[in-house]
Amino acid sequence: GGKNIQAKLVLLGDMGAGKTSLVLRFVKGQFHEYQESTIGAAFFTQVLSLNEATVKFDIWDTAGQERYHSLAPMYYRGAAAAVVVYDITSMDSFQKAKKWIHELQRQGNPKLIMFLVANKADLGQKRAVDNEVGEQYANENGLSFMETSAKTAQNVNELFYEIAKRVAKS
Ligand code: GTP
Repeated sequence: GGKNIQAKLVLLGDMGAGKTSLVLRFVKGQFHEYQESTIGAAFFTQVLSLNEATVKFDIWDTAGQERYHSLAPMYYRGAAAAVVVYDITSMDSFQKAKKWIHELQRQGNPKLIMFLVANKADLGQKRAVDNEVGEQYANENGLSFMETSAKTAQNVNELFYEIAKRVAKS
């Protein structure tokens, strides 16, 4: 019920962090062990109904490979929300996430709703980034933090519902 809101959402993060997998889990309920690397960017839509509003997400799933970095501003410009994803088994991917957060803080919409997402929570035995480290970094930089698994679906719907609620309030 209530308002109809259209919101642009962008996913950023290192190649292989699981951006496409999170979106496919959310939009189609699917997971692919051999998900292909995104070229340029991919576009998806999904509607979430809250009590107070209906949020239609226009989702830009960007490519994490470095050669596509310069395209990113096209996708985060005008975005209501950004999801910066890292892979808990890769410290490099966490460092890359920090770089994205810096870039968004410098160049993004000042009202951008930002989430730092620690993905691949199902791979706990191979963990390279402690949860506390990710959570503390998010807190210090004014982001929300969530640990997810696109594989098991842990916290994936919760993530997008949280974002929808924040968008509806803003
Ligand atoms: P780029 O398109 O290159 O930027 O990568 P991406 O961030 O979109 O990652 P993608 O979704 O393509 O996932 C990369 C690999 O990680 C794939 O083989 C996925 O199956 C795997 N993967 C993604 N999420 C998870 C997860 O939560 N758990 C596990 N175990 N594997 C995952």
